[in-house]
Amino acid sequence: MPDTLNLNAPLTAPSRVKADTATIQDYARRKPEKHRAEMKLVSRAFPSLPPNARVLDAPCGAGRLTLWAARQGWEVSGLDLGKAAVDHTRAVLDEAGKPARVREGDVFNLPWESRHFDAVICFRLLHHFAERAERRELVREMARVSRGYVLVSYLAPWSYTGLKRRLRAAVGGHRHRQNHTPLSELVADMEAEGFRLDRDVAQRRFLHSLHLARFVRQRS
Ligand SMILES: C[S@@+](CC[C@H](N)C(=O)[O-])C[C@H]1O[C@@H](n2cnc3c(N)ncnc32)[C@H](O)[C@@H]1O
Repeated sequence: MPDTLNLNAPLTAPSRVKADTATIQDYARRKPEKHRAEMKLVSRAFPSLPPNARVLDAPCGAGRLTLWAARQGWEVSGLDLGKAAVDHTRAVLDEAGKPARVREGDVFNLPWESRHFDAVICFRLLHHFAERAERRELVREMARVSRGYVLVSYLAPWSYTGLKRRLRAAVGGHRHRQNHTPLSELVADMEAEGFRLDRDVAQRRFLHSLHLARFVRQRS
């Protein structure tokens, strides 16, 4: 596989990242304990920001982080490739009476000028990309539109659940198409964009593989 991307080619969701209505509704009905644990991870990792700080949630999926961020009093934007996700997120925010701008779009080509946001979060997407070059392009675009923070979730290679999955795949069981990323890769790619690692928060270190890394811009 090439190590560089043809940036002129249209980018679409990898086949594993479904964006249809049924998938979004399933996502919205995620197991409550799983949802709560993930939201706790998000709230532990987020920096404190002033009211009206501009925050981007991309991809927004069923809108759970978009709603959480809007409830913090921030000026929130959400973006997703799928129309079903965008419609669902808009409905969730309307119902909660929390204004946010939600639009269809591609995380690899965000429709905002550079440094538009104070913080950008990309939750549960990076691990769908098998190629390092794709992951690099994704974090590069997140970094471009942030003047402050970038938060990106990844699956750490060394955890009990990650090792269990790989062991199961090795003995011929169900193969999870989730890609593990060493933190050193993310740090290198974000440093190249002028960001340094500020925090790395795990759901439960060494037990779960889901981490949320927070980067802060270094250079003005
Ligand atoms: C696993 S969900 C995560 C959503 C949300 N961050 C959350 O944790 O609830 C993945 C979402 O990524 C979206 N997606 C996949 N590729 C995308 C792309 N290139 N640009 C924007 N959204 C994309 C899908 O439509 C889907 O809604």
